[in-house]
Parts: sequence; structure tokens; C-alpha cells
Amino acid sequence: MIEFKNIVKKYRNKTIIKPFSIDIEAGQLVVFIGPSGCGKTTLLKMINKLIHPSAGKIFVNGKDISTMDAIELRRNIGYVIQNTGLFPHMSIRENLELIPKLKGEDPAKIAKKTEELLKVVGLNPAEYLDRFPKELSGGQQQRVGVARAFSTDSDIILMDEPFSALDPVTRNSLQDELVQMQKELNKTIIFVTHDMDEAIKIADKICILKDGDILQFDTPENILKNPANEFVEGFIGKRRVWNNPELLMAEDIMIPNPVKITTKRTVLQAIEIMKSNKVDSLMVTDKNNILIGLVTLKGIQLLNRNSEIDSVMEKNVLAVSEESNLISILATMNEHKIGYVPVINHSKQLTGLITRSSILSALSSQLIDLEVAF
Ligand SMILES: Nc1ncnc2c1ncn2[C@@H]1O[C@H](COP(=O)(O)OP(=O)(O)OP(=O)(O)O)[C@@H](O)[C@H]1O
Ligand SMILES: [Mg+2]
Repeated sequence: MIEFKNIVKKYRNKTIIKPFSIDIEAGQLVVFIGPSGCGKTTLLKMINKLIHPSAGKIFVNGKDISTMDAIELRRNIGYVIQNTGLFPHMSIRENLELIPKLKGEDPAKIAKKTEELLKVVGLNPAEYLDRFPKELSGGQQQRVGVARAFSTDSDIILMDEPFSALDPVTRNSLQDELVQMQKELNKTIIFVTHDMDEAIKIADKICILKDGDILQFDTPENILKNPANEFVEGFIGKRRVWNNPELLMAEDIMIPNPVKITTKRTVLQAIEIMKSNKVDSLMVTDKNNILIGLVTLKGIQLLNRNSEIDSVMEKNVLAVSEESNLISILATMNEHKIGYVPVINHSKQLTGLITRSSILSALSSQLIDLEVAF
């Protein structure tokens, strides 16, 4: 949908954007985030040809925009600029209706849409339509800016810190509205922010920038779980895993390679293995490492020592998949009143074991990281 290919931007001798390449899919909400001056606005403005790259190409819907008419291109891209950019000499209504009118849309439809959009951003049309931008607060102007971006019926909307002047409550509700509108209307949105919480909340993908370089371009989940480097880690803060415990997956919590036994061994051997590994239960696996049962010391210590594991093990063992998260694992353990649960992969092979103490040590290692980071 929008492809940056080896984009470079230089001002005099200074390189602002290093070769920058990403491909933004249609219908996605991509957030650009990074420190002030890293080039976010510059990248956004290149998409509608307000700034020209020093090298490289941008394709919109497969078309090289350097070959396209700038005015025509801009009419089809909604743009909320940093600091609203409303036309001061036009009323709110005129600001909102400008582009739809230029595109020759039906006037009755335009009027209806204008009112709807104002309501969506929390402004009463009767009160605000005929005011001028300077008669609105900064936050109200920003909301009109957002409404205007959606008024164009364009598939692409560029939003440069559109919510920065809003109070947290309004900001929160506009974030929700934005995501809903975007999914309903299937818009492709590039959204610039400084606020990582905002990015995580609304983004399909986040592009983290620093000094004109991409540090990481990935889903919020992957960035939180696997920050590409220390800068990203610092930027997102370790504490996020605490705020989002569902991001901790079985794989992150489990003891890998738990002690196990195969079916043809005996009770005597099982007890020996338990003793030497200081555990009181063993997972039973077949020759392909598929989990098929479980033996506990309590369950087998009074049995005939020569019995085969096959005949004494508990079958139908409850297990969780590698992708299940901490919240669902805790729920499972609580519901079944169990102190441990094996972890299996897609082929039902045993890959780990979660115990109360493995959960505790995973959580406390996060806590220790936190103390070091702050
Ligand atoms: N016309 C210009 N001439 C020279 N340097 C410029 C020009 N426009 C922007 N820059 C520089 O390019 C860099 C990137 O600017 P840009 O506006 O893209 O940053 P940004 O990431 O949007 O920052 P912020 O978060 O503060 O909005 C900055 O260092 C800025 O000073
Ligand atoms: Mg900027």
C-alpha cells in the first residue's frame, strides 16, 4: 500500500533519514515513534510530497509518487498535521468540507458527514460548526483536525501527533474511536506519537525510529517481548511486562527440558530418577517425545518396583501450549488445583514444565531487570 524504498533525506550535509525502507500494508495502523527530531514528520510529509526525498522512492498503491501530481495525491490522503493546521479564516464547517467539495461530492451528503464526524470527535455540531479555529481551545482544534482527516474519504490518513494537546480522558476515547473507525472504514493510517502507551494501544505495527534509522518495525506484542536493542528496551520500559502480564507466554515461564521417563522403564527406575533430580514427579513421553502421561512419587512409591511405567502412570495429563499466556495458565492451574502443568508444542511433544516456583522466578527476574533499569 505504502512502500518506502531506500529513502534518504539530507539537509545540506546532514543526513536526517538514513536509507529507510518499509512496506505498510493496506488497512493497517502503523505508528511511527521516536525521540524529537528523529525524522517522523519528515517521513510523513514525504508521503504527500510536502517534502521530497534526496534519494529513494515511495510507492502508493504500487505507483511511484514522484510521477504523480502532488495536488491530486494530497486530495486522496487525509492529513492531520502537527499543530492542527486548520485554515484560520475558514469556519469549522468550511474546514471540514473543503476537500469533499473540491472532489465534487454531493452537498447533502457532505453536510451530513460533517456533522457525524464532529460528533465522533466529541464536539456538538450546533455549537461548533460556525465557529472559527481561534474560537476553539487547542484540544478542540486538534479534534477538528482529526475529523477533517476522515472527511476526505481517502484510503490513507497521515496523523502527526494528533492527540498531543488533549487531556487523558478525551485522548483515550479518541484513541478508541480512531481504532474503531479505522477497522470499520478499512483505512491505512500512519500515526506519529511520542507516547508508547498510545502506540501500544492503537498500532497494528510500530516503527521505532532514532536518528533517521529504523530500530524495530514489528507488532506491539513482539516489540514488548523482544525489544531489538537496549535503546528500544529503555524506550518501552521493562515495567510493561508487569502492566501486560498476558505478554508472558508459557515459553517464558517454563523450565525447559523437564525430567522425564519413557514407558518401558520400571517404578524402581522412576523413583531413582526422581531422587537424583530432586523432583517428586516425572513426565512420561514416548520415543518421539510426545507427552503421554505422568507419574508422581506419592502415586508409585507403594507399588511393585518392577511394574512398568506404562501400567502405573496417570494418563490424560492436562497440558498447556507454548503460546498460552500467564493469565490463562494461572487460571488453568487454579481451576484444576494443580501446582504444575507441562507445556507441549503443536505436535504434542513435551517442551517444558511450569511450576509455581518457575512462575515466581520468571516474575522476579522481570522485577530485578526493572530495578536495574530505573
Ligand atoms: N528545512 C529543514 N532544514 C534543515 N533541517 C531540517 C529541516 N526540516 C527539518 N529539519 C531537521 O530534520 C530533523 C527531523 O525533523 P522532523 O520534523 O522530521 O522530526 P520529528 O521526528 O518529527 O520531531 P518531533 O517529534 O519534534 O516532531 C530535525 O533534526 C530537524 O531539525
Ligand atoms: Mg514532528
